[in-house]
Amino acid sequence: MGPMIPSLDQAAARALLAFWRSAGVDMDEAEAIYAAAPAKTAAAAPQHKPPLERPSAPPVAAPRLRRAAESPVDGARALAQAASTIAELRTAVSAFEGCALKATARNTVFSDGVEGAPVLIIGEAPGKDEDEQGKPFVGRSGQLLDRMLATIGLDRKSNVLISNTIYWRPPGNRDPTQGEIVACLPFVERLIELSRPKLLILTGKAAAHTVLKREDGVMKLRGRRLTHSREGLEAPINAMVMLHPAYLLRQPQQKRLAWNDLLLVDAWLRELGVDRAPQS
Ligand code: URA
Repeated sequence: MGPMIPSLDQAAARALLAFWRSAGVDMDEAEAIYAAAPAKTAAAAPQHKPPLERPSAPPVAAPRLRRAAESPVDGARALAQAASTIAELRTAVSAFEGCALKATARNTVFSDGVEGAPVLIIGEAPGKDEDEQGKPFVGRSGQLLDRMLATIGLDRKSNVLISNTIYWRPPGNRDPTQGEIVACLPFVERLIELSRPKLLILTGKAAAHTVLKREDGVMKLRGRRLTHSREGLEAPINAMVMLHPAYLLRQPQQKRLAWNDLLLVDAWLRELGVDRAPQS
């Protein structure tokens, strides 16, 4: 017998997930089913079968397009622009209701580290551990990231701020959709603007493509001195793309490339005058 969730509507499925979660049930499997539910439902059971012989019906009026001012992206932009500090931006992200992922997430995961740090790292999306703790990169890939950063004197207590491309865990850890990414982008861009880091590090494809607006693969973008510039930024920001630590956990032989990237970060930060504690 197939899963029951596809027969429920979205609101009921969400309520059921919330109930299970509050009862302490591990949500991973249920969230994966929920994530797949809309497509399966549509394919398996069309909601409205057309009658065999349909009398010619008057055309149904198309739903009125939402005014641009009501779109999630415009809402995000307005909230982001109104924030004049990173602390205000955090509050704005928590108040944002334009990303559907919020409904299934336990926590908003915005940032961890030093606000105004010389290095800003942007990853992809919170996973299970991040969702539980409300902090980015605290699971296995986060621990690897911390160890990598430590080799060149970087850490979230002194000189790094870490955030993500989206702020809520996608159910079942699926990839974020373009809609979810676009809805959060104004906050990502505002964080970069307010942080004005000496070096922006983008880990993985989602962050690299979203922030740099380039389609090249991560293997092509990584290990190079790039810049991030866009309207509204006072000056271009130094940027680098690195392999995502979750990818390195799956492909440990690629740590060699990651090490080369770290050496470049180290050299670039030295040129930029970013002092760090000597390594033991
Ligand atoms: N992977 C990410 O990209 N971000 C996190 O916060 C955790 C894992």
